[in-house]
Amino acid sequence: MNKGQKKRGFHLFANWKMYALGMESQNYFEQFFNVFPEDRIKDLPPASIGFAAPFTKIQSIFELLSKRGLSESIVTGAQNMHSAKEGAFTGEIAYALLKEAKAQWVLLGHSERRSIFNESDEQVALKMQRCDEEQFPALLCVGETAVERKEGKGADVVTSQLLCALEQVKQRSQVWVAYEPVWAIGTGESASTEQVKEMHQAIYEKLLELGFEEEGIRIFYGGSVNEGNCEALAATAHVDGFLVGKASLKPEVFATIAQKLL
Ligand code: PGA
Repeated sequence: MNKGQKKRGFHLFANWKMYALGMESQNYFEQFFNVFPEDRIKDLPPASIGFAAPFTKIQSIFELLSKRGLSESIVTGAQNMHSAKEGAFTGEIAYALLKEAKAQWVLLGHSERRSIFNESDEQVALKMQRCDEEQFPALLCVGETAVERKEGKGADVVTSQLLCALEQVKQRSQVWVAYEPVWAIGTGESASTEQVKEMHQAIYEKLLELGFEEEGIRIFYGGSVNEGNCEALAATAHVDGFLVGKASLKPEVFATIAQKLL
């Protein structure tokens, strides 16, 4: 961390993707709390910890946490959402249905959605507009591919994804963005602190330019975050949180990261 720079509340969010099959949420959290105790979690600022869970697990996780008085510090969310209010969209999920399942936030525009399911910048933008309208917190993912970086287009790709997704958003007092370089996701090779610093600075400046309030800007990094690299990455300027895939599936590992950072 730069001298004199005080970190605002850090966000440690998990992305379980289409994993966690057969994993009992009760067991997961028992093991998590063994390493990172509940009393400490209760004192954390809202949304310090988050879980982007598979749809079928959202409600039970929310209820489990809510019973323990932890559902403000640990927020349960979904990994995707359709932009329409409702409609003939077989297999899709609407905001109101997520709300019914007690989801507190949603992950949007993850690179796996963009690359595997052909989600376009325009679709991501419509989803962001739905969240804006419903005042539903969204964590917007952006990031360049290895080829784009090699061609020197990394920052352009990221800023154009931001522009497209956020241009029409009206509420500008809070924004959550995750910088997830596609080449660092699930590869075991995170971006270097230098690369993260540079891109987070570019994202920060773009968000200010778009009119987002400085106080409400939170920029997460995602891509092979683990117990070994989390401290150096978290100390980098404009890194306000992490989105963790693989390392979040093991409760002791994810709780160890929490213990180091929160
Ligand atoms: P990873 O995934 O931590 O396994 O690289 C991050 C993500 O896809 O959000």
